[in-house]
Amino acid sequence: MEFRGKIALVTGAGQGIGKATALALAREGGDLVCNDLNLDWAESTAREVRTIGPRAMAVQANVAVEGEVITMVAKVVTEWGGIDILVNNAGTGRPMMVEDMDKAEWDKILDINLGGVFNCSRAVIPTLKARGGGKIINIASLAGKTMSYHGGADYTASKAAVLGFTRHLAFELGPHKINVNAICPGVTMTPLVEAHSTIEMRESVRSRTPLKDLVKPEDIANAVVFLASEKSRMITGSTIDVDGGISLGMQDWETYVRARKEFLRNKKYRGN
Ligand SMILES: NC(=O)c1ccc[n+]([C@@H]2O[C@H](COP(=O)([O-])OP(=O)(O)OC[C@H]3O[C@@H](n4cnc5c(N)ncnc54)[C@H](O)[C@@H]3O)[C@@H](O)[C@H]2O)c1
Repeated sequence: MEFRGKIALVTGAGQGIGKATALALAREGGDLVCNDLNLDWAESTAREVRTIGPRAMAVQANVAVEGEVITMVAKVVTEWGGIDILVNNAGTGRPMMVEDMDKAEWDKILDINLGGVFNCSRAVIPTLKARGGGKIINIASLAGKTMSYHGGADYTASKAAVLGFTRHLAFELGPHKINVNAICPGVTMTPLVEAHSTIEMRESVRSRTPLKDLVKPEDIANAVVFLASEKSRMITGSTIDVDGGISLGMQDWETYVRARKEFLRNKKYRGN
């Protein structure tokens, strides 16, 4: 029961990675603030948390709107006394090319994926400091290191910026015993991905993944539990890739092995 007596705020906790994360933290005893744009979804996750045991509160707020985030954090501090763990999970994207994207659409993705991380992090700093430390965990993306599989360049840019923000904020908050880290999920089987992919696309990802499986929301939640725990006490400004190894190489595993076996069979290059 790593998180007994701790209060965690998870944004976008209504479904997908956010929901799996809220439930995983609750299984370790943490009280949960379940945020989402959609109040029904947030309430549904909060009910599941209460079934597990800890307290849960559902709060509707758009993380892109600073005033809504400030009101949400103030409510938690007033009603429960503070926050120890923030998981900046809320985010979105859609398949679109730059030439088809207008500035308003670009701004929308940046405002949620990057602005939301700024708004929530900034809003919780006073309470984390007042409680003598805490954890901020940003759900970035493999897209932040390479490029998005399902989204557009706006998504890729927002996630790359989240990684930069993570490193810089980790430096600023280190002396206050606040760890700031990021997780880069690979393609993860959530409603967001199911909406934007076909069975063929998912099979192609699976076949190119060295661990030969698709990432589940629970795999990301497990990494969050580690980063939120005292076991990660000396880790800050870091990134954990949870992608089955797909970021390790540009070619699929079978092609890699075939090329090396053929080389052994033929040994046709002079000098080898
Ligand atoms: N699924 C993937 O393959 C994948 C890969 C890498 C990174 N990620 C990141 O993980 C996070 C969660 O993704 P997911 O796949 O679970 O998405 P999802 O769409 O399945 O769930 C996202 C949740 O966030 C909520 N939300 C969206 N915008 C919000 C806002 N402005 N304010 C508050 N809540 C908001 C939605 O209502 C929804 O409940 C996102 O930041 C996403 O970019 C996902």
